[in-house]
Amino acid sequence: ALPRDLDGRRVVVSAGGTREPLDPVRYLGNRSSGKQGYALARTAVQRGAQVTLVAAATIALPEVAGAELVTVGTAQDMRAAVRQAAVGADVVVMAAAVADFRPTDRAEYKIKKTDREPDPIGLTRNPDILAELVQARADGQIGAQVIVGFAAETGDSAGDVLEHARAKLKRKGCDLLVVNAVGEGKAFEVEDNSGWLLSADGSERAVALSSKSHMASDIWDAVVPLIQA
Ligand code: C5P
Repeated sequence: ALPRDLDGRRVVVSAGGTREPLDPVRYLGNRSSGKQGYALARTAVQRGAQVTLVAAATIALPEVAGAELVTVGTAQDMRAAVRQAAVGADVVVMAAAVADFRPTDRAEYKIKKTDREPDPIGLTRNPDILAELVQARADGQIGAQVIVGFAAETGDSAGDVLEHARAKLKRKGCDLLVVNAVGEGKAFEVEDNSGWLLSADGSERAVALSSKSHMASDIWDAVVPLIQA
């Protein structure tokens, strides 16, 4: 049986990939499936939490019974939804793949094919939702005792990946960073299914990413001790 160690806790989990529109039918998106975020939400419900799942685009996934689902499109939509849900939350987990950039212009009508060369797509930086949450907490605007980020890092070795991840943990200021090594290494092939949990207090542990629900349990195991009684 799963521990009921999130009983009465309010938890926000973001999942999936944002879509940034170019025109009414086209967007810039990413390959996030949403599986890890959904697994985190499902596990949190099973462990007793009151869960808000803020979901951008995902593959077809079974709904998380017992969670409140808020669906969003763009990074800006996600920012508004997460921010609102975070106000009274104990924990926020940003598992979503949020687009770093959006097209600067969003055409009102479908962009037409013409004989001349197409215009380049201009990009504008999106807000960093995770970093903003950390700032909002520092400013006393949200509770969120525990803020968790994700990082998909590439590197030639596990050492490289960890180095990048430690820097990201500092930069973002979150309490826990879930690190996935992605892509192909050269000298040392990095296992696709390897990961680490890095805490702001400096503790680091490797986790096997065998299944996303197993990973979700490991993440909640690391979060629970960070929540004050
Ligand atoms: O900087 P990077 O995109 O690698 O950071 C990943 C982490 O930051 C994830 O937790 C992701 O949900 C979050 N993020 C965000 N807002 C962005 C970009 C990433 O909250 N605009």
